[in-house]
Amino acid sequence: MKYSIRNKALLAALTIGSAIVIGMNACKVPDSIAAKSGAQLWGENCNRCHNAPDPHTFSDDQWDAATEHMRQKALLTDMEITKIRIFLKTANK
Ligand code: HEC
Repeated sequence: MKYSIRNKALLAALTIGSAIVIGMNACKVPDSIAAKSGAQLWGENCNRCHNAPDPHTFSDDQWDAATEHMRQKALLTDMEITKIRIFLKTANK
């Protein structure tokens, strides 16, 4: 009886431990994306379906809307679109 309670506690600890490891892996951003600049990601992703639009085409507010729209179309991660958005809003000045 004593042992079975201890085993259950061990099993619970292992289950929670595995869940944390799996959760951390799911959130881990691949190094290939983390290492890239917004300009690079823009060049690689935003001309897949049409010519990558010049940053000067839009104001900051317009880029907020357009990049949210394109995040969904291009299936980009939050980190990718955030870097691209910062690049566009810096380069349009
Ligand atoms: C999967 C294909 C695809 C990718 C990748 C893509 N676009 Fe688009 N984009 C479209 C289509 C299709 C349209 C035409 C509008 C529509 O049908 O939604 C469009 C329209 C636009 C427009 C016009 C305004 C608007 O919101 O409709 C802008 C600006 C734009 N894209 C910017 C970008 C940027 C910046 C990226 C990179 C983050 C990007 N696109 C990546 C398919 C794509």
